[in-house]
Amino acid sequence: MKNIVITGGAGFIGSHVVRLFVTKYPQYKIINLDALTYAGNLENLADIDSMPNYTFEKVNILDVPEVERVFKQYQVTDVIHLAAESHVDRSIHSPLDFVFTNVLGTVNLLNAAKKNWADDFSDKLFYHISTDEVYGALGSTGFFTETTPYHPNSPYSASKASSDHFVRAYGETYELPFVISNCSNNYGPNHFPEKLIPLLINNIISKKALPVYGDGLYTRDWLYVKDHATAIDTIFHAKKVGETFNIGGFNEWKNIDLVKLLCKLMDEKLGNQPGTSEALITFVKDRPGHDRRYAIDATKINRELGWKPSVTFEQGLSETIDWYLNNQEWLNHVTSGSYKDYYNKMYDNS
Ligand code: NAD
Ligand code: TYD
Repeated sequence: MKNIVITGGAGFIGSHVVRLFVTKYPQYKIINLDALTYAGNLENLADIDSMPNYTFEKVNILDVPEVERVFKQYQVTDVIHLAAESHVDRSIHSPLDFVFTNVLGTVNLLNAAKKNWADDFSDKLFYHISTDEVYGALGSTGFFTETTPYHPNSPYSASKASSDHFVRAYGETYELPFVISNCSNNYGPNHFPEKLIPLLINNIISKKALPVYGDGLYTRDWLYVKDHATAIDTIFHAKKVGETFNIGGFNEWKNIDLVKLLCKLMDEKLGNQPGTSEALITFVKDRPGHDRRYAIDATKINRELGWKPSVTFEQGLSETIDWYLNNQEWLNHVTSGSYKDYYNKMYDNS
């Protein structure tokens, strides 16, 4: 019997992981522990929230007594830790929020696991979900492997790197069983429209400018969120305690090429004249400390665990656009209220 706490389960990636585990493993009890910040949204899980093996706990990982209560109440056997402040641009404006949630919050969870599992670490696992951004920026060639030295450049990636180090340190010092995965940029349904792809989709729908930072030649390696969820499932069950896995789909795109592809697909789906959406592209001020290129070498997870992505980028993007077009109520809900303030501040009322 497993009682698995998934933190950040109401967020983008977390909601896909929760859905996969709740539906695929009826024998597991899944406890979604989430503070419901601006990025957390229970609408993401409306289809599974009455499943008998699913429970939601509105808890902040900074609240030590509440985290402790959840561990005791549910006799937690495993943690899959996704809760985080996740947006680089927000980290540039409010770095301390990232230190609190990403660093201190992770240490709080590690302490709870260490304390509550102290008698017996067998059949326990602390699975920490991290990012390729901890490795810093690549030049025009090469890939991040599991042994690439950490070189974080943004407050976000510095906070994630720090949390990775704490997880590994608890493994070394206290023998806490852990595994870490570092994934490339995700995209897909339920992605909050502060990140590039959903922001572009939302702006194309509402015929707003499409902001491209700097020269647009920054490169990201994109993975469909449902493929990230299956990778997490694979790694969780492989139980390679103490190991790190990089997750990615060998799918690099320069931002400007990605923006143009998305414009083309959106024009086709919306029945626009070709070129309609591209006319909205606007080059804007660059992000400070902007990492030039990320690219994951996902050989280890493929060779050792047999995982590989299931969809091509074109399929994944097409499914993603369809999801946003069919879920405009979701988009309206998340873009009302504080999103407008964020957007105006970030993009100078553009
Ligand atoms: P997200 O911002 O969409 O969701 C984060 C979730 O965490 C939200 O539901 C939020 O309510 C919750 N949360 C935030 N602070 C909390 C706190 N103090 N206590 C409890 N819950 C809190 O993030 P995401 O994009 O789904 O990313 C999830 C994880 O995956 C993060 O750890 C992120 O670093 C990592 N990751 C993301 C990507 C990506 O492309 N989005 C890529 C690689 C790794
Ligand atoms: P983002 O989705 O914020 O992910 P990350 O910074 O974690 O990689 O950004 C992806 C890329 O797109 C990154 O190079 C920054 C760029 N970008 C823009 O050009 N315009 C935008 O409005 C946003 C949000 C991002």
